[in-house]
Amino acid sequence: MGMERRGTGRLPERPRQGGRESEDLDALLAAEAEKDLLRFVACGGVDDGKSTLIGRLLHDSGLVPEDELAAAAADSRKFGTRGGDLDLALLLDGLQAEREQRITIDVAYRHFATARRRFIVADAPGHEQYTRNMATGASTAEAAVILVDARRGVAPQTRRHSFIVSLLGIRHVVLAVNKMDLVGWDRARFEAIAGEYRTFAHGLGIGEVHCLPVCALTGANVLAPSPETPWYRGPALLDRLETIEVSADVAARPFRMPVQWVNRPDPDFRGFAGTVASGTVRAGERVVACPSGRESTVERIVTRDGDLGAASAGQSVTLVLADAIDVGRGDLLAGAADPPAATDQFAAQLLWMHEEPLLPERQYLLKIGTRLTTAQVTALRYRIEVGTLEHVAARTLALNEVGVCNLALDEAIAFDPYREVRETGGFILIDRFTNATVGAGMIEFGLRRADNLTRQSLDVGKAQRARHKGQRPCILWFTGLPASGKSTTANRVERKLAALGRHSYLLDGDNVRLGLNRDLGFTDADRVENIRRVAEVAKLFVDAGLIVLVSFISPFRDERRMARELVEKGEFVEIFVDTPLEECERRDPKGLYRKARAGEIANFTGIDSAYEPPESAEIVLKTVERSVGELSDEVIAWLRDGGYL
Ligand code: ADX
Repeated sequence: MGMERRGTGRLPERPRQGGRESEDLDALLAAEAEKDLLRFVACGGVDDGKSTLIGRLLHDSGLVPEDELAAAAADSRKFGTRGGDLDLALLLDGLQAEREQRITIDVAYRHFATARRRFIVADAPGHEQYTRNMATGASTAEAAVILVDARRGVAPQTRRHSFIVSLLGIRHVVLAVNKMDLVGWDRARFEAIAGEYRTFAHGLGIGEVHCLPVCALTGANVLAPSPETPWYRGPALLDRLETIEVSADVAARPFRMPVQWVNRPDPDFRGFAGTVASGTVRAGERVVACPSGRESTVERIVTRDGDLGAASAGQSVTLVLADAIDVGRGDLLAGAADPPAATDQFAAQLLWMHEEPLLPERQYLLKIGTRLTTAQVTALRYRIEVGTLEHVAARTLALNEVGVCNLALDEAIAFDPYREVRETGGFILIDRFTNATVGAGMIEFGLRRADNLTRQSLDVGKAQRARHKGQRPCILWFTGLPASGKSTTANRVERKLAALGRHSYLLDGDNVRLGLNRDLGFTDADRVENIRRVAEVAKLFVDAGLIVLVSFISPFRDERRMARELVEKGEFVEIFVDTPLEECERRDPKGLYRKARAGEIANFTGIDSAYEPPESAEIVLKTVERSVGELSDEVIAWLRDGGYL
């Protein structure tokens, strides 16, 4: 099969789908839609033959458009590994970089179908730096085909792919032991690889593993059993893919539907629109709205084509409830018999997907279902060495690294452990400034640590404390490069405030680092924590009714914004002490720039650690050729004008 076609570059006949009359098209489309769908991800290294294998599935199932075949034939002559013969690997998306370097750099999704099933295959890249792409491809897949080269057996990357597959909750794995022709179709070799792999996969908790000997190049055991492996009695790859049972997994899951919007065309109709993420909902069933916990009964399941008695995962519907309970966008509707948990702190596995490393305590946006909230990684418990599954102590996660951490959110969310319901247990983290997706997480369990804490209400409040002091409390946040003049200016401002009879406190970077923050150094992660702590202290001092001066380099926009958002509007005054680096370096009162240039200090701000200048500071102090007296007067004048003094 395929042997005679491979290498000719001729366009194939279309055995399964070809030659339909157009009047049959509607019927065909309807039949296609009826067929069930399997999404799977294909994983393998650069030389494992993955692209050839997928190419063969597409080619032999007859679903490759002729122009793509023609292009592949042309490319085969240019880039192919088959000496000018049609290279099936080139049928795959044809990303330029892949063609030129023969590696896959992004996820390509391809559709194909047989008489029994439709398929969407995510072609995930194999090499290490692209774990991110593989996870993207695997996140919606129900099954994975993992390729190994029969000559090499289970390789570190096989373990890595399998780990990600298990991380993303894929329960069905097919291990395709490829290039069996190159080991003489040796049964013992195949069984040794299969045995080793099963043990490994079992350790990862992958439910179902099927191993099969193939040759992607010739198509042996890909579409039909091959005479070369009389000792292998299992199904060919396609047959296996056609029969993997996923509906049973789906049916057993609880009903979940994130609310996308409230549909309210007129006062008599109110429905909650969304796509069923998991399970089945039936008219007459009890549902609960999360996180409010209010229950009601499903009165109608409305669709464009009329009402339904029931709707299952993947269907877009509008639910009408019997009671007028308060439900909004971002809420989750769930089966009342089997509700999700709610928490504002949980433990999760986190895959980092960005060049900028994870910074614990930095605020990110967290998106789960349709809900968006602010989240911080409060503790990175360990990193998982993806090749060996070892747990390693870590303070950050770099691109493509995986860790286990605790997260704290601004508000409680409804969730399920990812292992139980992927759709309500998976989340992404988003950078607040760039909006880039930086991480993907899988919730393990909720943490109870905040459960027994309730905010104590105090009888004396900020307003009263401020009144006693006869002032309006606020934070004057000085930020700038080392030696820019922050502390000198803040110190002079405080002297003037004292002379005016104001109650103040100056939190200075060096001083706080000698006490409260003496455990912190100058890595990005430590600076984030440094600022988080001083911002919390400043907030308490504002609550005490003080005018707080903070003089910290505070190099990152994210954390200055976090500090700003801790207090009320108007209570945070950002003062950018704007001195050019050359000038700071010229002043260098502590000799630190000189040491940094000499390589004696690492991570020195302005030299080998970033400073992100403010974009909209309340006050910008240009310090060059201005005296401390003038600069501090400028701040005092601003405070007067703003009604602070
Ligand atoms: S911040 O970046 O975390 O906000 P912070 O203001 O607390 O820094 O501390 C800065 C002070 O630490 C500087 O005034 C300087 O005296 C000292 N210091 C020592 N090493 C470094 C370094 N690598 N980078 C910056 N400042 C350093």
